[in-house]
Amino acid sequence: MKVVICSDAAQTRRLAAQVLAQQVQTKPDSVLGLATGRTMEAIYAQLAERAEEQSIDFSGVTTFNLDEYIGLTAQHPQSYRYYMQTHLFRLINIPEHNTHVPDGAAEDVEAEARSYESRIAQAGGIDLQLLGLGENGHIGFNEPLSALNGRTHVVTLAQATLQQNAVMFDNDMGQVPARALTMGTGTILDSREALLVVTGAAKADIVARVIEGPVSALVPGSALQFHPHCLVLLDEAAASRL
Ligand code: GLP
Repeated sequence: MKVVICSDAAQTRRLAAQVLAQQVQTKPDSVLGLATGRTMEAIYAQLAERAEEQSIDFSGVTTFNLDEYIGLTAQHPQSYRYYMQTHLFRLINIPEHNTHVPDGAAEDVEAEARSYESRIAQAGGIDLQLLGLGENGHIGFNEPLSALNGRTHVVTLAQATLQQNAVMFDNDMGQVPARALTMGTGTILDSREALLVVTGAAKADIVARVIEGPVSALVPGSALQFHPHCLVLLDEAAASRL
């Protein structure tokens, strides 16, 4: 792992957007793995701004999102498909058919998980996987005790995740879907490069366990220690327990 500590969250996000922009400029047919969550919103805003200023061409780029809630349609404002349309896809020139988010409204979610995994393989695998970190150490929706070699699968979300994400659902935990589809930790580890971005003091403890702790299924993000090319971007607050 290569760890870069930026002075503040704004600089961390700027650098993350720069890494993504450079990836597309260097390889216009890149396959990007994308993430959601609050941390990513500003990164996508910066990336879209750069794309406009520097005429970055996304027409040959393919994207695969990490995860999606089960039971929410693409039109649901809290679905990750809706999030991606709002925060990135409508702001860049990527063709919609090049963008992939697991279908949480699929009738057979197990079949959707298998098909998602094979679509990633057909696209030639992921060149650069963007990642955030849950407060309980999850990456994607791989909760503590998920298999470290898992592929795309259906998960039951941890209580801590329901609490953490309730803010997006009017602070009503009852509204947060209990299950999700997620790339597995093994799928994530197969990406050629990974970019983990974490900001804020609330994640300082878990960041230390991810980077310096033993690799353990209790902390799924710690599996990134096995990734051959993983860049970690932190602000000083998130790095304060290293
Ligand atoms: C969700 C997503 C994760 C993301 C996490 C962190 O749980 N499934 O992929 O890393 O949120 O979100 P935030 O940036 O809002 O803290």
